Order: sequence, then structure tokens, then C-alpha cells
Amino acid sequence: MNILLVGGGGREHALAWALAGSPLLTKLFIAPGNPGTAACGTNVAIAADDVAGLVGFARDNAIDLVLPGPEAPLVAGIADACAAAGIACCGPSMAAARLEGSKSFTKAICDKAGIPTAAWARFDDADAAIAHIRAHGAPIVVKADGLAAGKGVVVAASVDEAVAAVNAMMRDHSMGAAGRSLVIEECMVGTEMSVFALCDGTNAIPLGAARDHKRVGDGDTGPNTGGMGAISPPPEATPALIETVMATIIRPTLAAMAAAGTPFRGILFAGLMLTDAGPKLIEFNARVGDPETQVLLPRLKSDLLAALVAACEGELADFDLRWADAASVGVVMAAAGYPGAVARGGVIGGLDEAAATPDVMVFHAGTRALGDQIVADGGRVLTIVGSGPTIAAARTAAYRAVGRITWADGFCRSDIGVMK
Ligand code: AMP
Ligand code: GLY
Repeated sequence: MNILLVGGGGREHALAWALAGSPLLTKLFIAPGNPGTAACGTNVAIAADDVAGLVGFARDNAIDLVLPGPEAPLVAGIADACAAAGIACCGPSMAAARLEGSKSFTKAICDKAGIPTAAWARFDDADAAIAHIRAHGAPIVVKADGLAAGKGVVVAASVDEAVAAVNAMMRDHSMGAAGRSLVIEECMVGTEMSVFALCDGTNAIPLGAARDHKRVGDGDTGPNTGGMGAISPPPEATPALIETVMATIIRPTLAAMAAAGTPFRGILFAGLMLTDAGPKLIEFNARVGDPETQVLLPRLKSDLLAALVAACEGELADFDLRWADAASVGVVMAAAGYPGAVARGGVIGGLDEAAATPDVMVFHAGTRALGDQIVADGGRVLTIVGSGPTIAAARTAAYRAVGRITWADGFCRSDIGVMK
């Protein structure tokens, strides 16, 4: 099979690495890819959201399956365009990707299907939103309804903080169009965890569980980022808990989406709060996570490509994936300044030495080849993943490899995988 993988981050390097090992693979193309994916296949200079360019390339190069990594191509309609061109795409249609793009759409699906989630209300009017906050009190959660690049959520400890968030989003337009309407939610208490499921429109199989570290600084301090590291599996992720999530959240969502005429095919990423009353949905994403993918895939023993093909062909009902009984810890190395403006162009040394340490994978994200050197060219630059029999062993392996990297502008959190 010829595969076109879309994206250019650490997630896509991990996906490219997993696909490159498939006995079903003939040729792998990655658009736009990065210097890491170039070692797994052929990079193609087409942007991840250039749907016409991607589908044209797929048609001209006899691509059998398109795998979108990030949300940008999904939101731009790559699955719909592939369907129109008769090319299989392992990602949701624009209509089904609303599970990620619209919080109120997801909440309405939850209500219809009886899926456990925080109590909520949607507002188009700032005064009504503020009256609701005053009636309910704090803590309370204020969310921009649309896609806000992970920045549209305020978990407010006080009524004043919640009111300020409403004013910023609705009156000062701090989130642009995404904040034109708001969802206000009950604040749930518990431990967070993410569960991933591969879906064929009707059936779903678990793709593992992970926990990411969203804040930039040690001890979960500082601003939110795309993710500074992740572990898999989190200690709470017993087979029984995963089955509860499949039974109470994933399968009812698939049934509701199919009943609405917008079946979900692709990877459903459920962000969960493990509360005293059981797992409750925080949000869905319509794709795999970054850096969660980098810690999930090294544990997968089965052929990823065979599973993606089964998802595209509606044949997941009898499909099983085998996982290593091992743990992974992924540490993101970012450029100074991240998540703000970053220093670019710094030379990164020690990549081969890091990759040669035992039980380690080095995944590229914001890197660029400059002659025979690799230089930093983005915010999140590398994900270094250690594996081992326990999270503690995996953590030791990951940080040993981090210590081999020489890069003046680089930094990472030192507490990824520390168990409290
Ligand atoms: P989201 O973008 O919806 O994933 O929200 C970002 C973060 O805000 C989540 O990872 C949680 O830490 C927190 N959060 C969102 N919704 C709630 C809620 N209803 N209760 C408590 N925390 C929440
Ligand atoms: N690490 C969170 C995400 O990929 O959305």
C-alpha cells in the first residue's frame, strides 16, 4: 500500500516510524514531514491544511490511504475531499470532526446519549452568562465554544475570575470567533487521563491510555502548552476502567454520531476526569494526541497499518491489537521562550548518542536539516521516549537520553513521569 501521512510534528514522526515497520507498506509519503520522518519515508512539501494539494498528490501517486495527524486538515475537510476522490482516509468528515471543533455540539451528543460529563449551559450573550455564573458560584469553568488552540478554557476559582473570562472572550473578543458563544460548565474534581479509540463508524477498539503534562514548568506551573511530556499507561488505566470508558463514553458516542447521519471514522481522543462517580468526559479530540502518540506507539506490538485499513473498511468488530506489557515516558524538549515566541536556528547535537542509549526513541518535531546539521525550527522540537517495565524505569531511560542532547536554547521539564 502507498500511504500519505499528513503533518510534521513529533506525533507524525511516531506514526511514520510505526507505519514504516508494516509488512503492508509499499511507499510512505509524509506532508510536510520533518527531518525525523525523512528517515521513515519521503517528505513532500505540501502544507498540512492544503487539502486540494494533498488530495491532488494522493491521486497522482496512487495513494491507497491518507492518514491525517493534526486537526487542521480535518477541519479543512480532507476526509470529505478524499471520499469525493475515492481515496480511503482514516479520519472523520468535517461534520464528524465537530466533536473536536464545537464544545456545544459534543455536549449535545453527550446529553442525547447519556454520556457522563460536567453539567453545562451554552450562552450567546455575556449578561446571561454572567447571571448564570453568579447563580451557580465558583469554582466554575468557562470555555470558548469554538476551536481556540487549547487556550479557550478558564477553570475559575472565583466568581470574579469567571466573570472576567466572559468579558474577555465575549466583549473583548480575546478568542476571536471561537469566543462568540461560550459553554459554562460545572467544575469536576479528580485525576485526568486520556483514552484513545480507533473507530470505523460503527465499532471502536481501544488504542491505549496516556496522561500528558500540559503546563510548561515543573510541578505543573506556568502557562499551558501543547504538551510537555506524557506517560503511558497511567497507573489508573486498568482493563476494567478502559472497558468502562468504551462502554459509557466511546460506544454511545459512535452510536449517536451514526444515528445523526455523521458516523465517526478515525481516532477519537477522550479527555477524561476520573471522578468519585466514575470517568466523565472533559472533551473529545478527533485525532491522536501530541505527545501522547509518541508514548502509545512504542508499546504497540500489532501492525498499525492493518488496524487503520480495518477502520477504513468498517471491519473493526473482530479486530484486536496486542500491546507490550511495558511503560513509556516521553519528554518534550522545547526551544527557549515556548509557549511564546521562540529562539530558532540553534544547532542540536547528540541526537545519535541519545538514540543509541538503551530503550529510547528520539522523535523530531520542530527541527530542520541545515547541511549535515539539525537545527531547531519551532516550539516543541523533540520528544524523547524511554521504555521499560515500569514508569520509573521508562523515566530513567528517557532522561538518560535527554542528557546526551546538546542544544543551548533547549529546555524540558524534569518531572515527567514522577509518580506522586
Ligand atoms: P479542554 O480544552 O476542554 O480539554 O480543557 C482544558 C483543561 O481544563 C482540561 O484538561 C482540564 O484540566 C480543565 N477542565 C476543562 N473542563 C473542566 C471541568 N468541567 N472541570 C474541571 N476541569 C476542567
Ligand atoms: N497533547 C494534547 C493534544 O494533542 O491535544
